[in-house]
Amino acid sequence: MRLLILLGAPGSGKGTQAKLLAERLGLVHLSTGDFLREEVRRGTQLGNQANQYMNTGELVPDVLILDMIKTRLVSDGMNRGFIFDGFPRTVAQAEGLGRLVDEVGAGIDRVINLAVDDEVIVGRLTARSTCGVCGAIYNDVSNSPRRAGFCDKDDAALVRRSDDSEAVVRNRLNVYHQLTKPLEEYYSRKGLFLKVDGHGTTDQVLTRVLTSLAASGTNDRAQV
Ligand code: AP5
Ligand code: MG
Repeated sequence: MRLLILLGAPGSGKGTQAKLLAERLGLVHLSTGDFLREEVRRGTQLGNQANQYMNTGELVPDVLILDMIKTRLVSDGMNRGFIFDGFPRTVAQAEGLGRLVDEVGAGIDRVINLAVDDEVIVGRLTARSTCGVCGAIYNDVSNSPRRAGFCDKDDAALVRRSDDSEAVVRNRLNVYHQLTKPLEEYYSRKGLFLKVDGHGTTDQVLTRVLTSLAASGTNDRAQV
């Protein structure tokens, strides 16, 4: 099973790049944020528990996330390849994932960090909109839809995320620096960490990620 992890701050482009990479490399895109928003929308017990944390930009407790990931991996089939977007986000989650992949005799191929300056991120997130039906990601500045407010793919209405207000974005960035940044060191020590410049156009970033994967020796497995 091939397993890539996209690490990176809120708004660094994880969702945008994960969709492109999943398509390009034939992997299943697994976003914990998207899953949680779906649980909130459906009003499940997990959704109700998670909502309070997400609204303020705090992290949902590790135990809830790890249970959710385990269920998802089993239901999606562990023999398929995955690209994780927004997971793991704490050292405890990374350790939990390590145990999970050990149990099934798999391994993590690479951990890719999309590096973007905080002020660029605030600008990106306060201009983001997302299709309420297919999840396509847009931006008022860098990637606007052909018809304002509607998705290019299915014409459904675009929505703003409730955690994209500037105040919540700044808290999400603080949480990221405090709790997720240590994973750079964690995965560097395991020889899995790749840092990629996340500035520039979406295509430029995608090319950098693919080049970086190829240069790191994952050429054959990543089909770059
Ligand atoms: P999650 O949904 O994962 O949010 P996030 O990490 O804050 O990241 P975003 O989805 O906001 O940004 P992104 O990096 O995907 O960027 P995007 O491609 O959209 O998590 C939300 C919440 O859920 C968390 O706060 C937490 O509460 C909870 N949660 C989730 N996972 C958890 C976990 N593992 N543990 C605990 N809690 C968890 O791009 C952003 C914008 O920029 C878009 O408008 C896009 O069009 C634009 N853009 C993208 N690339 C470029 C580019 N190259 N140039 C210009 N614009 C660009
Ligand atoms: Mg995202």
